[in-house]
Amino acid sequence: MELKTAVVTGASSGIGLAIAEMLTEEGYKVYGIGRIFPDGCDFFEKRISLDLRDTDILLEKISGIKKVDLLVNAAGSAYYGLAEFNTPDQIKEMCRTDIEAPMILISALLPKLKDSKGMVINIASVTSTRINTHGAAYGALKAGLRSYGRSLYEEVRKTGVRVVTVCPDLTAGTKLYRNANFKPSEEDGCYLVPGDTAECVRDIINMREGAVVTEVEVRPQFNRIEKKRT
Ligand SMILES: NC(=O)c1ccc[n+]([C@@H]2O[C@H](COP(=O)([O-])OP(=O)(O)OC[C@H]3O[C@@H](n4cnc5c(N)ncnc54)[C@H](OP(=O)(O)O)[C@@H]3O)[C@@H](O)[C@H]2O)c1
Repeated sequence: MELKTAVVTGASSGIGLAIAEMLTEEGYKVYGIGRIFPDGCDFFEKRISLDLRDTDILLEKISGIKKVDLLVNAAGSAYYGLAEFNTPDQIKEMCRTDIEAPMILISALLPKLKDSKGMVINIASVTSTRINTHGAAYGALKAGLRSYGRSLYEEVRKTGVRVVTVCPDLTAGTKLYRNANFKPSEEDGCYLVPGDTAECVRDIINMREGAVVTEVEVRPQFNRIEKKRT
């Protein structure tokens, strides 16, 4: 039987990398998109190293993938702090990575996803439904991605394509907070690990055909962050 094919952005780190590994276990051929892949990820069908903001290159690189059963948009970029201190470059980077690239990829791959009656999984965030002081821009973009996924599902459900928004909470062991002055607390129960979201995605892709979880939040039991020591 022909293997299923997945395209995963953010596949070089954190949650996207954990999802890519899980998909390989599930028998998918995974085309992983990232900038710099760590050593040793030889399970990918192909590693596509590019900056998602170079959308012409992105479209060219994915055009050769013949069949797509699953698209996972996991790449993301975040800058925190008061809105007046978000620089234009930071705002542009977040807009382009967190919402422009997913929409362009979805638009380009939808014909193939319709052919395969496939699935789109967007990794948004719990910030998408919250008020985010010190993270207004990031939260707004994740809310946009969630809204886009809701509308897209209604648009394409009749074609057999399923659209899912997964909203993780504070996850340790990723690089997302590299620009922040805080991080998830290291106390037990206060953080997720990337594999928690990957396991959630495993359950979603293995749902009975004809049933779909359209939105899900994955949360640690407790809600604590800690300031980074400088
Ligand atoms: N960590 C959390 O607490 C948390 C909570 C909720 C939602 N999320 C979401 O989960 C997703 C994964 O984040 P993570 O926590 O796993 O963070 P991460 O370790 O920083 O991973 C982010 C991924 O996105 C890729 N990426 C970022 N900008 C890119 C660009 N311009 N071009 C190509 N690739 C780019 C990175 O590639 P390179 O490393 O190769 O540059 C990396 O593979 C994101 O959408 C994030 O918003 C995370």
